[in-house]
Amino acid sequence: MALINENFLKLKAGYLFPEIGRRVTAFQQENTEKAARLIRCGIGDVTEALPAACIKAMHEGVDELADRASFKGYGPEQGYAFLREAISANQYDGLNISADEIFISDGSKCDTGNILDIFGKGNRIAITDPVYPVYVDTNVMAGNTGDANESGAYAGLVYLTCDASNSFVAAPPAEKVDIVYLCFPNNPTGAVATRDQLTAWVNYALANDTLILFDSAYEAFVQDSNVPRSIYEIPGAHQCAIEFRSFSKHGGFTGVRCAYTVIPKALMGSTVSGEKVSLHQLWSRRHSTKFNGASYPVQKAAAALFTPEGKEQVAALIHHYMGNASLLRDACKAAGLPVFGGENAPYVWVGCPAGKTSWEMFDLMLHEAQVVITPGSGFGAAGEGWFRISAFNSRANVEEVCRRIGQLFQA
Ligand code: MLT
Repeated sequence: MALINENFLKLKAGYLFPEIGRRVTAFQQENTEKAARLIRCGIGDVTEALPAACIKAMHEGVDELADRASFKGYGPEQGYAFLREAISANQYDGLNISADEIFISDGSKCDTGNILDIFGKGNRIAITDPVYPVYVDTNVMAGNTGDANESGAYAGLVYLTCDASNSFVAAPPAEKVDIVYLCFPNNPTGAVATRDQLTAWVNYALANDTLILFDSAYEAFVQDSNVPRSIYEIPGAHQCAIEFRSFSKHGGFTGVRCAYTVIPKALMGSTVSGEKVSLHQLWSRRHSTKFNGASYPVQKAAAALFTPEGKEQVAALIHHYMGNASLLRDACKAAGLPVFGGENAPYVWVGCPAGKTSWEMFDLMLHEAQVVITPGSGFGAAGEGWFRISAFNSRANVEEVCRRIGQLFQA
């Protein structure tokens, strides 16, 4: 019989969002009348149509595939040069990231998980808490942790607690770690790191030979021009950081699938015997072996986000979602709840009313207001007592959610 990867047996229950889906489906089956009022502000999934520039480019891409003369089969594994060049010029202008340091993929969730392929065993790995669950679960699957304790914390991981006292931005730890995951703007808390805070992280990484895995999937939502969008805005980051970015939220591509990972050529890892090895080369080797490139029409659509029309349409989408975030923030504040995030990120992070756990709050919102939120404890023990509201929705739905929050907390 085939032996399994027993690390999977250490995973706690199901992945957070399918678990929420199961609870919502059960509610719908048991409450058919109330179910019709359901508004989903749980998973951060976009709701608005793709920018028109992308639709046009995708159609053109499909038309090219319809003609033998312009047909394309396998593309370059690392992505078409036209897209990598557009990313380098538009997203990393002045930051010294060349097109061949950018690897196109079909999603940042996959990239942040798959990156572990190029690292060995025995790394000391730090994550913030609360955190995007993919970072933790993929380390569990890879055998980089021991078992979880009762509150869900895995032996072997270094947890950096984020709470109201540090405005949900962790400072570098006193101890040395080999790898740290940072995500700004943050999922789930919506927190952003200032230039000084990121500089402290880069200085820590350079002093301790730490690799920063920097997830900036939500950079397009940064409104404050002083908040860095990329780790490469910080001097020294090219020597210590990998950056993950996605078109999922930037262009509304959650269903289209396209993302990219930046690995500067200067970035090195080490063998056990101390020999320095290029992480760019390792990832290139891994990518070429296990991935055959994102689809051509999708890459055409992604490149269209950087045309003048595309940029205007993206700005309108971001403006729409950030308007929602602002309404949600106001409604939660008016209800007397502590509120973080939602100013440079599409997530509003809200404190539960006194005495309620995150899952109790989830149930209350579902049963009494028919609004799906995400329980903060699903993102880690430090998320207990908090919940996340996603701003990805229509304006009408968000206004209705605000009205129901008002009603719920007036009563
Ligand atoms: C979330 O809701 O946290 C995200 O949509 C999940 C993801 O990007 O995979």
